[in-house]
Amino acid sequence: MVEASKTTVTLKVHRFTPRPERAERARGGSPFARKSSPFGGGSDSAARRRPRGKQWVQEYTIAARPEDTVLDCLLTIKRTVDPTLAFRYSCGHGMCGSDAVSINGTPTLLCTASIRDWAQQPVALPQVDDEGFRHIGDDEATGNAEATSTAEDNSLGVIELAPLPGFPPQRDLIADIDPMLNQIRKLTPYLEADGVLATTAEGKVNAFEYLQHPEQLAKYEMLSNCIACGVCEGSCPVFAGGDAFIGPAALIWSSRFINDSRDTKALERMDAIDTTDGVAACQSVRACSRHCPRGIDVGEEMWQIVAKVRER
Ligand code: SF4
Ligand code: FES
Repeated sequence: MVEASKTTVTLKVHRFTPRPERAERARGGSPFARKSSPFGGGSDSAARRRPRGKQWVQEYTIAARPEDTVLDCLLTIKRTVDPTLAFRYSCGHGMCGSDAVSINGTPTLLCTASIRDWAQQPVALPQVDDEGFRHIGDDEATGNAEATSTAEDNSLGVIELAPLPGFPPQRDLIADIDPMLNQIRKLTPYLEADGVLATTAEGKVNAFEYLQHPEQLAKYEMLSNCIACGVCEGSCPVFAGGDAFIGPAALIWSSRFINDSRDTKALERMDAIDTTDGVAACQSVRACSRHCPRGIDVGEEMWQIVAKVRER
C-alpha cells in the first residue's frame, strides 16, 4: 500500500513466459532434437525466431521519486511485490549494456532512464454514454486539457516497458541478444597487430605495448566506447527484418579496428563487411544514432565506414 503523501509511478510491463519445451531447448535440452531438427543448429535465423509462450501486460504501481531510475523501480518490484518478474542488469550505471529494453517504445537502458524523463501522464479517455455519444465535460469543452486528466495527484505517471525490439524475447524484459553478439564475433573484434614492439636504441623491448600517437587514437577512441547493448540494433528497421543485415553494432566494432593504426587487417576487415548483408544493407535511416547510451553517432560512423569500404 502506498502512503498518500508519497509519489507513485505505474509500470506497464509486457511479460512473456516461454513454453516449457522452448525453455528446455534453449538450455541445451536434448542434443538429438537439435541435430535432427531442420531448423536446429543454433543459426541466427533460428535464434531470431520469436518463441511461443504466454504473453500479457502487467501493471505495478509503487512509491517512487522523480529521480529514481526505471531499474530502481523494477528492483523494488522484484524484491517487494513480484519475485517472478524477469529483467537483466549488471553494473547499474550505463557501463555494461546488459539492461537494454524498450521504454515507451524507445530502445534505451533501464539504469540510465529516470522516472522524471520517462513517466507519461495517461490520456483521459472520452466518456461515452449508454447511447454511444461522447460526453464532453466543461473543462474539455473549454480546451483545458490538463483539467481533464484522470491521473491521481501523487502519480508521476505511467511507463511502458517491453523487451528490446529486433531480438526474440526470452522471458519478460530479457531479450536474446546472441544474434548481435554472434555477428560481432564473426568480425574478429580484437586487435591483430604485427607483433613488433617498440625497442630502445640497443634493440631491447622498452614497452610491451603497441604505441600510437594521440591523433591516431582519436580516430577510433569514440568507437571503442561501444558496450554492445543493442540499442542501435533495436532502433534499426533493417536489422529487425531478420538476417538481411549484420547490424549497426557489428559494423561499429569492425570500424573500431579498421580505424586503429596498430591493426594490420584493415583490408580483410573491409572485405568481410563488403557483403549484401554488410554495408550494402544499410539504408541510412539513421534511427541507430538517436539513443546510443555511449554517445556514438552510429549513423554517421556507418556512413564513414561505407565510404571507406567503397574507396578502398
Ligand atoms: S553503438 Fe551504441 S547503441 Fe549500438 S551497441 Fe554500441 S553502445 Fe549500444
Ligand atoms: S546495468 Fe549496466 S548498463 Fe545498465
